Parts: sequence; structure tokens; C-alpha cells
Amino acid sequence: MRLLIKNIGQLCQVEQASENRLKVSGSDMAVVPSIANAWVLCEGDVIHSFGSMDSLGDISADETIDAAGGYVLPAWCDSHTHLVFAAPRDGEFVNRIKGLSYEEIARQGGGILNSARKLNEMDESELYDQSLERLHKVMHQGTGAIEIKSGYGLCEEGELKMLRVIRKLKENSRATIKASFLAAHAYPVEYKENKEGYIKLIIEKMLPRVAGEGLADYMDVFCEQGFFGVPETEQLLEAGWKYGLKPKIHANQLHYSGGVQVGVKHNALSVDHLECVGEEEIASLKSGNTMPTLLPGAAFFLGIHYQPARKIIDAGLPVCLATDYNPGSCPSGNVSLLLSIACTQLKMTPEEAVNAVTLNGAAAMELAHTHGTIKVGKVANLMITSKMPSLAYIPYDYGNNNIRSVVINGRVL
Ligand code: NIG
Ligand code: FE
Repeated sequence: MRLLIKNIGQLCQVEQASENRLKVSGSDMAVVPSIANAWVLCEGDVIHSFGSMDSLGDISADETIDAAGGYVLPAWCDSHTHLVFAAPRDGEFVNRIKGLSYEEIARQGGGILNSARKLNEMDESELYDQSLERLHKVMHQGTGAIEIKSGYGLCEEGELKMLRVIRKLKENSRATIKASFLAAHAYPVEYKENKEGYIKLIIEKMLPRVAGEGLADYMDVFCEQGFFGVPETEQLLEAGWKYGLKPKIHANQLHYSGGVQVGVKHNALSVDHLECVGEEEIASLKSGNTMPTLLPGAAFFLGIHYQPARKIIDAGLPVCLATDYNPGSCPSGNVSLLLSIACTQLKMTPEEAVNAVTLNGAAAMELAHTHGTIKVGKVANLMITSKMPSLAYIPYDYGNNNIRSVVINGRVL
């Protein structure tokens, strides 16, 4: 199957065969290499060739799409989500409007524990159906690769159920999916007074089964005051590494928790959230290869302060953006909206934001060799927008959908 897209206003985030861009850092983030008035040809599930319309000639294709001046970008790479969950938490949303904080709700047994109760009551097939529906929705909004976490089971069977649902999504959907094991998301009620016991359960019982069944790619921990501290995080990350699970952790969302430093120390693929980042965190990030991943959708929805994206980029570091799609702190997996928040609140330029959720998003899932740019031989995951005056129009036109069609593995969704 050969799919040709022609009359493209701008073909964005192109990479030449001679390049080997595996992430974008610092001032390089300001540039999205593009070709005006272009075409791209997909063959099978990969990108075959591309160029400017002058060079098109008479290429044969099974299907041709006239982009009519619309932009073409690589599909989004959303590297941090909790898309598998059983029920919304709109009641907590209203309680937060009335003045309760996210942490207060969690202390009262709501929050993650609320989601865990609902998830453990739901059977696997219903959980799968709901999750697949959510996945399809975000794919139609432009997402082609996505990371999904466990973390609402908080018991052996619940965590395995979530990871099996993620595996089934991997098998049955065209999206590229990575799974993270996040049993250390919160202490379940029955372990409130026996925190060591829960860590032991994760390390001795859950991890061997998760690894044995090949259910996870990464090890996640919510490293935060009132959740998992630095010593517990270290213990868990070391245990994960023994099974080959690279860390990819929640860090520095609500406090200067030491999460960034512990993540970098244990060679985490990424440290995510990062509302609380000062000089020490920047120095730590500069000493390693861990990707700083910002989740401004959660800061927006919780009404907490935003991540210092400028400080991180100006230090020469890369920045990745992800949605954090989950029922508590960010019930949206819409990347276009995430870009609007990143540009207006974090003062990222549209080009920086696009780099953050394409190539850097791919890097935060170890997919930079195959995803995140438009390069010959890479997976043909693309989106076509309506006709736009500039790349800035995507975040500018906030809340509106300008994605006309999405191509995954070389075929239109
Ligand atoms: O990334 N911060 C921890 N975990 C999620 C929220 C989970 C929830 O509230 O259900 C997050 O924001
Ligand atoms: Fe999260």
C-alpha cells in the first residue's frame, strides 16, 4: 500500500537520511526543520520519501490525499499517561473548586485510592473496552505513540489486570504503546500502617510476575512527600533494574522531593512533572541523560504553579511535554490543548513545544530511532491539519481541533 500526501503547506519536523537526531536540546528546540509546499509518500507502514512539490514527478500511489495547504507533522508521542482507569473523578473536581487540595483529598482516602477501589471492582474486559475507546479518541487527536501506566490496582491482581489491559491495547491497536509498572503510586489502605510491607509486596511478589509475563517496559514510582520518599524510591528502582525495567518516574510535582536527583542517579529514562525545579535539580539533570518531562496539563487542572520550562531550556537541556492523561489531575489526552498551555503558561515557543512532544516524546519512550520525525524508513505516523497560516496556529487556536486526518502505520485512521 502506497499513500501519497501532496500539496502540503509545510511538511514539519523533517530529518534527512544523513542526520541522526535522537533528541533536541536547549536553543536547538527553537527550530522545527520544515519543507514548504511539499509531498510525502508512505509505503507499507514506513515513510518512503518526501520532497518539495517541484520534485514530485509522476509517483504512483494506491491512495492520494490532497492536503490543500494543510500542514503535515509526525503524530504526537505522548510519553506519560494513565489512560487505563475505571471511572472519572468529577466529584473530587468539584471539591477542589470548593477549596480542598489534591493532597487533602488523597489524605481522606480519595484521589488515587478512589480510582483503585473502582478499578478493582471492574472486570478486565470492561476496563479494556473503556480504555480502547479513550485510546481511539486520543489517536484521532493526533497521538501515534503513547506510554500507559498501571498504578490504580495497588494489589497484585489489580496491577496485573491493568498491565494485561495495556498489553491487549498493544496487540489490538495501531498505536505504538509502552507500559510502565506503577504499583508505587500510593499506599493501599490496608498497608497504611505497614509501608515496608507494601514495598516488600511490590518487590518480592509483583515485580517477578510482571517481569515474568513481560508486562512492563519501565518502572515508575510517585516520589513525593506523603507518597514514596527517596529511600523507598531507591529501593524500588534498584529492584526494577534487576528485572531490566528502566526507571521513568513521577518527581517534584508538589515539593522539592529529591525525585529528580534520585531519578538521575538511577539512570531514569525520564523524570516527569517537575513543577518544583531549582538550581540543584538543573545541575543534577545536566550531569546525566535523563529526559526532563513536563506535564503542564496537570498543573493547569490542579491550579498549581507551572513548570519552569524556560529555565530548563535555557540551561541547554532538552524538554519533553506529555499529557499525564488521568482521571484525577488531567482528564485530557489532547496534545493540541497541551501545546496551548505550554505556550501560554510555560512560555515555550510553538516550535519548542512541537519538538517537546514529537522527537523528545519519542526519546522519552526509547522510540527516537523510529518515531518523532519525518525521516525515510521511520514509522509512517503522521497528522494532516486543515490549512493554517503557521505552526503557531495549532497552540494559538486553542480548544479547537485542526487535525483533519491521522495516518498510523501508513494508513489513515
Ligand atoms: O501524574 N501524581 C501522581 N499521579 C498522577 C495523578 C493520579 C491521580 O490523581 O489519579 C499524576 O498527576
Ligand atoms: Fe502521572
